[in-house]
Amino acid sequence: MPEWLKDAVFYEIYPPSFRDGNGDGIGDLAGITAGLDYVRELGCNALWLNPVFDSPFLDGGYDIRDYKKVAPRYGTEADLVRLFDKAHRLGIRVLLDLVPGHTSDTHAWFQASCRAEPNEYWGRYVWTDHPFAGIAGHPYISGMKERAGSYMLNFFASQPALNYGWLNRTEAWMSAADSPEALATREAMKDVMRYWLDRGCDGFRVDMADSLVKNDDENKSATAAVWRDVRTMLDHDYPEAALVSEWSNPVQAINGGGFHMDFYLDHVGNGYNTLLRDYEAGGADRSYFRKDSGGDIRRFLDDYLPKYENTRSRGYISMFTCNHDTPRPAWTLSADEMKLYFAFLMTMPGVPFVYYGDEIGMKYADVPTKEGGYQRTGSRTPMQWDHSVNLGFSDAGAEDLYLPVDTAPDAVTAADQEQDPESLLNTARKWIAVRHRYPDLQADAPFAVLSAAGGQDIFAYQRGKLVCAMNPSGTTKQLRDEQLEGKNVLAVTGAAELSEETLILGPQSFALLG
Ligand code: GLC
Ligand code: CA
Repeated sequence: MPEWLKDAVFYEIYPPSFRDGNGDGIGDLAGITAGLDYVRELGCNALWLNPVFDSPFLDGGYDIRDYKKVAPRYGTEADLVRLFDKAHRLGIRVLLDLVPGHTSDTHAWFQASCRAEPNEYWGRYVWTDHPFAGIAGHPYISGMKERAGSYMLNFFASQPALNYGWLNRTEAWMSAADSPEALATREAMKDVMRYWLDRGCDGFRVDMADSLVKNDDENKSATAAVWRDVRTMLDHDYPEAALVSEWSNPVQAINGGGFHMDFYLDHVGNGYNTLLRDYEAGGADRSYFRKDSGGDIRRFLDDYLPKYENTRSRGYISMFTCNHDTPRPAWTLSADEMKLYFAFLMTMPGVPFVYYGDEIGMKYADVPTKEGGYQRTGSRTPMQWDHSVNLGFSDAGAEDLYLPVDTAPDAVTAADQEQDPESLLNTARKWIAVRHRYPDLQADAPFAVLSAAGGQDIFAYQRGKLVCAMNPSGTTKQLRDEQLEGKNVLAVTGAAELSEETLILGPQSFALLG
C-alpha cells in the first residue's frame, strides 16, 4: 500500500476543459501544467486525468485508438512527461486513466481481429464463431466486418470488448480466463501500465474495472483474480503506484481485486445520493446536505458503514464531489450546502476526490451533447478561472471552444472567490488544509459514529482523538456527549460553541473538535 495515499487529496481533470495552452479552443497538457499551481494552492496533492490518449473521441477519449500515444489535440508524450515533472516538483502525483475493458474500433488490434484470416489479434476481442449467432444477454455487432463472426461491445457501438475470457462458458467460442488469448490481453494491458509508469505516472484510475471476465460469478471473482495479478506486478515493480477502481463495490474491488481504492459512485441506491440528491421522481429532495430537507444521515450510514468496516484494513473508499459522468453537486446544492459537504468529505476516512470546478461551485450546464457525453456533457464545461475572455479558459473565439463557457454575468470564477475569505473556494481550501494538518483525519485513521439521530440533528463522528460535528439544518442544534468534555474547537464553518460537554452548532455549521 503506497504510504502517500494516507494524505492524498485528488483533483480530477477532464483534459479538454481545464485550460487551453495554445489558443485552439481545447484544453491540453500544457494548459494543465500551467494550472498545477492552482491545484497545489487548493491543497490537492494528486491528480487524476481522464484519458489523454489517441482517440476518435466518440466517448470523450474512453475509446482509445493507441494506448501509447498522446492525443495530438492534447500535445505530445514530451508534454505529458513535463506535466509529470512539474507535478512531482510541486508534490503532486498523477494518475492516468486506464481503459482495460475495450478499445476504439479504430485500434490496430481490433482492425486486425476483423480480418477474415486468423492472425495474432484474432483472440484479442470477444468474437463468436458465426456471423448469424449473437451473444445472449450482451450487446454485439454482426455483419459489418469480413470476419465470419459477431463481436461483443463493452459500452458504445464504437467500443468492442477486449477478451479476458469467460467464467461460465456456454459456447465453444468462449475463451477461458486462463486461455492463451485471454492471458495475452492481460499482458498487453500490463505492458501499457508499465509504459506510462516508466515515464513518470504514479498509477491509474481504472475504467469499468469490474467488466473484464464475462459471465463472471456474483462476486466477480474471475475479474478480481485478473486485478490481483496486476497488483502483484505493481507490488513487485512499482510499489509506490496506486490503483483506484471504477467498480463501486469496495468489498469486491479492494478485498477481491486488490485495488488500493474504490470509488463510492452515485449509483442508484448508493449512499452518495442520500447526501446530495435524494429524491424520487416528483417528490421532495430529502438529501442530508440540503438545508431543512428533513434528510437522514442514517440512510447514508446504512449503506456506507458495512462497506467501510469490511474493507478498512485493506484499502480505501474514495468519496468525491462528483465526476465527469455525474451531475455536479451545484445541480442540487447551494454554495453554503456545498461548504458543509466539503468539510464532511475532507474529514471522512478513505481518499477524497474533487472534480475540477466543484471547488468554486460550477453549474451543471444545460448544453448539447459533445463526443458521446449526452447528459454527462453538462459536467464537462470549461473551467472558470476569471472574467477575462472565455472566463480565462482559452484565447480562442467563442465559436471555437470545445464547449461553451458559462455566459451568465454572475458566473462563478476562481479569481472572484479568491478575494472572499468565506467563498466556497476558500472553504474548500481550508478543509483540505485541515485534513493535511491532522493525521487523525486522513485515509486510514479510525472512524466511529458518535451521534446520528434522525432528521437533521447533529451528526457527529470520531476520527482518532478528534470529533467532527455538523448541522446542515437552518436552526441551531445542540449535542451533549461526554466525549466532548475538555475539547476545543479547532476549525469551523458557520458557528460553534463548546462548553463542557455541550456543543451548540449554528445553522449550516460544521466543527472540528480536539
Ligand atoms: C466509464 C467512464 C465513462 C465512459 C465509460 C466507457 O464509466 O467513466 O466516461 O464512457 O466508462 O469507457
Ligand atoms: Ca489547446
